[in-house]
Amino acid sequence: MKHLLKLLDLSSEEIFKILDLADKLKYERKHGIAHKRLEGKIMGLIFEKSSTRTRTSFETGIFQLGGHALSLNVSDMQIRRGEPVEDTARVLSRYIDGIMIRTSSQSEIEALAEFGSIPVINGLTDFAHPCQVLADLMTIREYKGRLEGLNMCYIGDGNNMANSLIVAGLKTGMNVRVACPKGFEPAQTVLEFTKQYGEKFTLTTEPKDAAKNADVVLTDVWASMGQEHEREQRVRAFEGKYQVNDELLSYANEGCMVQHCLPAHKGEEITACVFEKHSDEIFDEAENRLHAQKAVMVLLLEDK
Ligand code: CP
Ligand code: NVA
Repeated sequence: MKHLLKLLDLSSEEIFKILDLADKLKYERKHGIAHKRLEGKIMGLIFEKSSTRTRTSFETGIFQLGGHALSLNVSDMQIRRGEPVEDTARVLSRYIDGIMIRTSSQSEIEALAEFGSIPVINGLTDFAHPCQVLADLMTIREYKGRLEGLNMCYIGDGNNMANSLIVAGLKTGMNVRVACPKGFEPAQTVLEFTKQYGEKFTLTTEPKDAAKNADVVLTDVWASMGQEHEREQRVRAFEGKYQVNDELLSYANEGCMVQHCLPAHKGEEITACVFEKHSDEIFDEAENRLHAQKAVMVLLLEDK
C-alpha cells in the first residue's frame, strides 16, 4: 500500500491490517504506552472544505506518533492560481513526508499521488471517504466482534460515504444493502465492482427492505458539502422516506448498531431520538477516526 486514495485500491488483507494496527494503537493510547513511530515526520494537511473531525484527528494523530502537522488551505496555495497539480506534487514531495488532502476532485488527488513521491491520503473527495469508513469498520468490529457475515444497511444519498461503505463492506465479508432515491444512486464504478459479489449486494429504493435483519444501519446527510445549491431539490427527494428512525429500526436485528459519520442533520436523515439512543456508538465511531488514521499513517510513512 503506497497511498490511501480509495478503498477500491486496497485488498481485504490490507484493510484488516489497518484495522488490526488501529486496535493496537488504540489499546496503547488508552494504556499510556507511547508509540512515537513517526518521530520527525511531517504531514501536510490540505483542506479545501470544512472539517472538524478530519483536521483534528489527523493533527492530533501525527503529534501522538511523534511527528508534525502542517495545515495548508488550498485557496492560499498556487494550485488554485493555476500551478499544475504535477508540479505541486513534486514540490511538496521535497519538503514533507506525506499528504492528507480533502477536496472535491478524486482525479486531482490521484494526480498528486501519481506525480509526487510521498504517500497521499484521501481525507474526503466527492467520490470517497476512506478514512471515515475505516473508522466505521473498526467501530462495528469493536461492538460486534467481527465483520464477516454481518448485514450492513445504508440509507440515503449515494454519495462518498455510500461509495466507500459498499466497497469496504463487501471486501470485509459483509452483506451490503443500500436504499437511495431514484437518481441518487452510488457511483457507476462502485456498482460495477459490486457485480462480482452477486446477492451479497442489494440496491433498492425501499429503506425498509434494506433495513430488514440489519446488524448495522448507517446514514449520511442528504446534501453533502458542495451540494448546498441542490438542497431544496434533495429535501424533496429524501423527505418522509430516507430517514433512520425507530420505525425503520424495527425491521433490523435485535441490537442493531447505528453509525453516522457526522455532522448529522437531526430530523432529516436521522431522528434526534435514534441519534441519542446510539450516541455511544456514534461518538466511538468519531473517536476511531484518530486510531484508524494513525494506523494508516504508520503503514504508509514508517521506515520510509
Ligand atoms: N466525518 C467527517 O469527515 O467529519 P469532518 O467533516 O468534521 O472532518
Ligand atoms: N457526505 C458528506 C460527508 C461529510 C463527512 C459530505 O461530503 O459533505
